[in-house]
Amino acid sequence: MCGIIGYTGKPDVTASLIGGLEKLEYRGYDSAGIALAVRGGISVIKSVGRISQLTDKLKDVKLSASCGIGHTRWATHGKPTEINCHPHLSFGGRCAVVHNGIIENCRELHKLCELRGITPVSDTDSELIAHLLELNYDGDALKAVRKTSEMLKGSFAVGALFADRPEEIYAFRRLSPLLVGVGEGYTCLASDGCAAEAKDVYVMGDGQYARLSPSGAEFYIRGRRAAVKKISGFGTGGGGKEGYEHYMLKEILEQPEAAARTIEALQTKRLRGELLMLGCGSSYHAAMSAIPLAEQCTGKPAHAITAGEFICSVRTGGRGRTAVLISQSGETADTVSAAHEAEKRGWTTFGIANVQKSSLTRVCRRYALTHAGPEISVATTKGFTSQVAALAAMLATGSLREEVRKLPFAIERALNTDDAAAAAELFKPGRAAFFIGRRTDLAVALEGALKLREITYIPAFGLSAGELKHGSISLIEDGMPVVLIHTDPALKDKSLLTAATVKARGGTVIAVTHDEEVAAFADLALRLPPVHPLLSSAVSVVPLQLLAYHTAVRLGTDVDKPRNLAKSVTVE
Ligand code: M6R
Repeated sequence: MCGIIGYTGKPDVTASLIGGLEKLEYRGYDSAGIALAVRGGISVIKSVGRISQLTDKLKDVKLSASCGIGHTRWATHGKPTEINCHPHLSFGGRCAVVHNGIIENCRELHKLCELRGITPVSDTDSELIAHLLELNYDGDALKAVRKTSEMLKGSFAVGALFADRPEEIYAFRRLSPLLVGVGEGYTCLASDGCAAEAKDVYVMGDGQYARLSPSGAEFYIRGRRAAVKKISGFGTGGGGKEGYEHYMLKEILEQPEAAARTIEALQTKRLRGELLMLGCGSSYHAAMSAIPLAEQCTGKPAHAITAGEFICSVRTGGRGRTAVLISQSGETADTVSAAHEAEKRGWTTFGIANVQKSSLTRVCRRYALTHAGPEISVATTKGFTSQVAALAAMLATGSLREEVRKLPFAIERALNTDDAAAAAELFKPGRAAFFIGRRTDLAVALEGALKLREITYIPAFGLSAGELKHGSISLIEDGMPVVLIHTDPALKDKSLLTAATVKARGGTVIAVTHDEEVAAFADLALRLPPVHPLLSSAVSVVPLQLLAYHTAVRLGTDVDKPRNLAKSVTVE
């Protein structure tokens, strides 16, 4: 997703901006650019593709500046082209902006610009902000910033330069996050804790705007000085690959420790009552996988839906009930909006995030942290298992609590029995695959299919094993891989029957199981250590992560940064 960085007071600001953009890379992007406050104006350098392509361009440009802004763009309005890439310059070249978010009244603002004789050159909503700033600028930059932000509808985090204020950065935000860090002789602006490198970081409030100079920052709201929340010890990014070829593999192998840290930290926290669990993508799968456990341990109905669907759903009140909002990044727009919406509808909100100072932990009434450490690979692995471990630690009662403490060892064992590389040979580009299971195993089937299609682009479908015969079975033909997850002894007969149905139509059954009979019946088995069926998802997902990883490596895709994807999806 888009990322913002800015520095003032850095002797070589270009290097600082590039360093900041590299820290934002993990969010996913398709183009990047910087704007520098240089003698006599603003210089903008941008490029489609990777940051390395931008640095190649910068080799030919000798510019000295101590103040600038930068951006990684993930296209929403308009294709990933150089013209659409940020920063955008205003019509007279007096302002440059970088923007995260979506301007909902962009058509209206486009017309307004045209009426003033300005023809926007890009397809973006962001460019319009630059024009408005220049139109509203009469020498008072704070006034121009305030007026411009009042004209915008939607979500925005904006960093701006004014050509005649070469040491200052202006910032304003609504709904999209923006942080200001004050260091020794410099001040920085960032949309993300990973890039806010100063020790002391300020979280800009909704509707606030700020002026940043090398000596610090002033914050305002509606024409008055505003108080801002200062936080310390902000996240410092993900470290290196430590010799691994890909972050994804490193993170897969970190799962036993990540789960152990999470269980240790959360064993005294409790989730009780009637629960509605919400999340997106893999976080939704984590929510879904915990339903049988939640119902067993609370004795109450539990549900899971995607955060995006919850926002659009009929406005049911939640008084007396708890909405559990799950997000690795804590910044996913659908999940953060769902938290706001749940609060409005009277639910007690409980967030589960991997990043402490994230939007989600700020919105929810209570929260718990997973302790996975920074996750860099776009495809989540340790983020998912830590969420499952967190839910297990907070839900389990009685003898199940001891079973939860064994989970990290079971994950370790699942990592050590790696037949996934052999199974990966069965998956071919353009050839569909099914992942099937029931109850908790269904959530893992959905997660396994997502993992595979996300990083290999193979059309992989996750569905309930019972649903196969209601239509999708028509896709099965000779050699089609069908991954059957089976961890619940009570469902053994059903799993064997499904496997037989698939084999009878020529499908190749790959069983993910601890059960010898199911394994022997399948064409190939990825063996699991024994684990309680209510807690199995943290373990049974491991061979599927490895399967996706090995397939992607074999096919030569960009494992850590698959096409079109972003690490945190900050638009709804
Ligand atoms: O940061 P979040 O957990 O809120 O992210 C939600 C999804 O975007 C995320 O899980 C996504 O599905 C992963 N890339 C899947 O690997």
